[in-house]
Amino acid sequence: MKPFMNISLLLLVIVICLSQPLVIHSILGKYTVHIINGFQNNEVLHAHCKSKDDDLGFREISMNEEFNWTFRRNIGDTTLFFCNMWWSGGHLVFNVYDAKDDTILTNCSYGGSRGECMWRMNEDGIYLYNMEYHEYHSMHKWGP
Ligand SMILES: *[C@@H]1O[C@H](CO)[C@@H](O)[C@H](O)[C@H]1NC(C)=O
Ligand SMILES: *[C@@H]1O[C@H](CO)[C@@H](O)[C@H](O)[C@H]1NC(C)=O
Repeated sequence: MKPFMNISLLLLVIVICLSQPLVIHSILGKYTVHIINGFQNNEVLHAHCKSKDDDLGFREISMNEEFNWTFRRNIGDTTLFFCNMWWSGGHLVFNVYDAKDDTILTNCSYGGSRGECMWRMNEDGIYLYNMEYHEYHSMHKWGP
């Protein structure tokens, strides 16, 4: 009798959790990160992006091309992706998705917990697209 009651209780907890819209959104929530070469001078953009668990490898992105990947958000999302990027005019390591960074999340989100993080690398710096206002924000300058 006892194990059976525990299973009923567990099922009840799961049903209650799933009935909360916020939980459903975070289970289904998907994010795509775009790494866009926005250079005008035909330069190649080099990018090495990683999270704690995934190494997305070394990428060479040509002018007007992009590299992208999609992942799911989860309950208690702690996902963090960062990239090491360089070209002939500079170098920088920065976070491209951070579940704890409101600036990144609000700019990327287009409803619920879905979103697109569109990072555009220009000669004069690094820009993030705001999905709600449809404009690029300057986020970083290139380092040496
Ligand atoms: C992702 O990048 C590829 C090229 O690498 C491109 O063909 C594709 O359209 C991109 N996907 C999205 C959702 O933008
Ligand atoms: C988006 O990024 C800009 C630049 O960092 C920041 O000022 C702004 O608060 C962020 N969020 C929104 C919703 O625009």
